[in-house]
Amino acid sequence: MASSVGTLGFVGTGTIAAAMIEGLALSGSEPIIVSPRNAGIAADLAARFPNVTIAADNQAVVDASDMVVLSVRPQIADEVLRPLHFRADQHVLSLIATISLDYLHEVTAPAATVTRAVPLPPVARGQGPTAMFPPNAAVKALYDRLGTAIELGDESEFDVFSSVTATMGAYFAFAHTIAAWMVDEGVDTGRAHAFTAQLLEGLGTASRATPGRDFAELADEHQTRGGINEQVFRAITRDGVLPELDAALDGVLARLRAGRGIKD
Ligand SMILES: NC(=O)c1ccc[n+]([C@@H]2O[C@H](COP(=O)([O-])OP(=O)(O)OC[C@H]3O[C@@H](n4cnc5c(N)ncnc54)[C@H](OP(=O)(O)O)[C@@H]3O)[C@@H](O)[C@H]2O)c1
Repeated sequence: MASSVGTLGFVGTGTIAAAMIEGLALSGSEPIIVSPRNAGIAADLAARFPNVTIAADNQAVVDASDMVVLSVRPQIADEVLRPLHFRADQHVLSLIATISLDYLHEVTAPAATVTRAVPLPPVARGQGPTAMFPPNAAVKALYDRLGTAIELGDESEFDVFSSVTATMGAYFAFAHTIAAWMVDEGVDTGRAHAFTAQLLEGLGTASRATPGRDFAELADEHQTRGGINEQVFRAITRDGVLPELDAALDGVLARLRAGRGIKD
């Protein structure tokens, strides 16, 4: 089922734009226009999906689109967005971390509707949550096609949801530490990878299989008193949390809020 957004345009054709476009192809065929950078990713998407075309430049993307998705890095956002001319009937959907709704309204005026969202790479497989702010029916429908849209009515709360999306790399480092340790102990690399992946996949579904149990309860249920799980848990946690992770999330939240001019 196609969404009601009309033609979608992407300014910035990188990792997350490609993931969204792949995910959208699972459930629709609306016209999609991408900017020419990155040239390799744009060419790959246009070759794989008949509804994807490459525009001559960023302004051509904006001109051809009903909904313009902003997916460049925050460091270059201002220099990319300032020269562009938007129309009053357009919907701007920004994926750019740290760039506030107020700023986006200013720089994309007279575009009437602006929404922020933080989709994650699993949207390529139609999986995972996408936090969005402020609530908007068209963007909610779009991200419900790509997993589950989480509508938020408060930009500070959106910052909190955005902060925890910064844990993805650390999650895979956790997995890598386990698999690499197995390899150090002489296990074949492929078997170490497969075993670790299956271990974590099984645990990843535990929460859904036991609704009503919070993560602290699940941590408790997955360790025997005096056993080896308790041994590792005690070695790397304090009061049931990973202290470095807790502090790192504080740092990310402060950075996101500073990007909106808010000091903690
Ligand atoms: N990756 C994620 O999981 C994720 C999740 C949510 C939100 N985001 C946000 O999405 C944005 C993009 O992240 P990303 O991971 O997709 O980064 P990325 O892979 O680096 O993609 C950014 C793209 O912008 C292109 N670009 C550079 N200069 C440009 C210009 N002047 N005009 C148009 N495009 C230009 C780059 O092309 P070149 O390669 O040629 O430089 C690149 O393809 C960021 O603001 C990030 O905060 C990312």
